Amino acid sequence: MKPGIEWRAPRADAEAAQFAADLHAALARTPKAISPKYFYDEAGSRLFEQICDLPEYYLTRTELALLQRHAADMAAQLGDRVQLVEYGAGALRKVRLLLAALPHERVQFVPVDISGPHLLSACDGLAADAPALDIQPLVADFTRPHTLPPCPAGARRVGFFPGSSIGNFTPAEADAFLRLAAAELAGGGLLIGIDLVKDHGVLHAAYNDAAGVTAAFNLNVLARARRELGAEFPDDGFEHLAFYNPAYRRIEMHLRATRPLTLHLDGAAYDFHEGETLHTEHSHKYTVSGFQAMAARAGFEPGAVWTDPNGWFAVLWLRSPAVP
Ligand code: AVJ
Repeated sequence: MKPGIEWRAPRADAEAAQFAADLHAALARTPKAISPKYFYDEAGSRLFEQICDLPEYYLTRTELALLQRHAADMAAQLGDRVQLVEYGAGALRKVRLLLAALPHERVQFVPVDISGPHLLSACDGLAADAPALDIQPLVADFTRPHTLPPCPAGARRVGFFPGSSIGNFTPAEADAFLRLAAAELAGGGLLIGIDLVKDHGVLHAAYNDAAGVTAAFNLNVLARARRELGAEFPDDGFEHLAFYNPAYRRIEMHLRATRPLTLHLDGAAYDFHEGETLHTEHSHKYTVSGFQAMAARAGFEPGAVWTDPNGWFAVLWLRSPAVP
């Protein structure tokens, strides 16, 4: 990051108020369900990084290998003067592989992430390793309207959305995001990583690791509610549940009540019957052609595709035509 860069984090109390409002709504609906974005406070972001290194969690290492092997081909699709916007940037581990194949002095990098402290420390690390790179971090929820820095003269805007993060979205949300991205990236395109439909046992293991890190990550939502909002519930009242739902081609994560219990939040009482769940995440799996068809409905044209030998994960280049 260049010295003197300014950024504005949403005020901490406003963030807590938003979390409280969303948690109340989540607990009041049937079935109970909350957005997975609340996994990612500092503790949750750290747990997610541990997940990425788990033996069962093939997604990260498979995508990293694709980026490593094909970075030059991918860079050739992006073009040689770009504003590179990374949606949900996190630890910046993957984009480094892509940046290694791009001329830094011709790239403006705009990582967008909801977790401010985490993003900024990752940017500091990248700036130390890539002094010629112009880094313009944006602390924002990229699914909501946001303003990107203007695209530098002569550059085209290209998006990077790795990690199968789009799997968190319902098909309707994915469609909405792709439409927003197609408009924002008109004249450029989107490089996106998607997790593919595969053997159910492989999928199940990836979300039920032996070390229990995914369980801790899932349970962190309620731990946050306790830390940040003073929510009250029994210590052993909830357990991790993750399974593949073939009808929807998605992993579902839930927090399941181990017995009848009541969760108290700001004077409100939310009852759980034994086995009742708070749904915390969807992780949708796609086929390459199915995803390209969805992207086409949102305005993208299919481009190059890179996959691993098992066919477990894919990185897709999608072109967004310039608006006439
Ligand atoms: C970051 C959404 C891609 O769905 O695999 C990892 C999050 N959840 N383990 C995924 C996650 C449980 C992850 N994404």
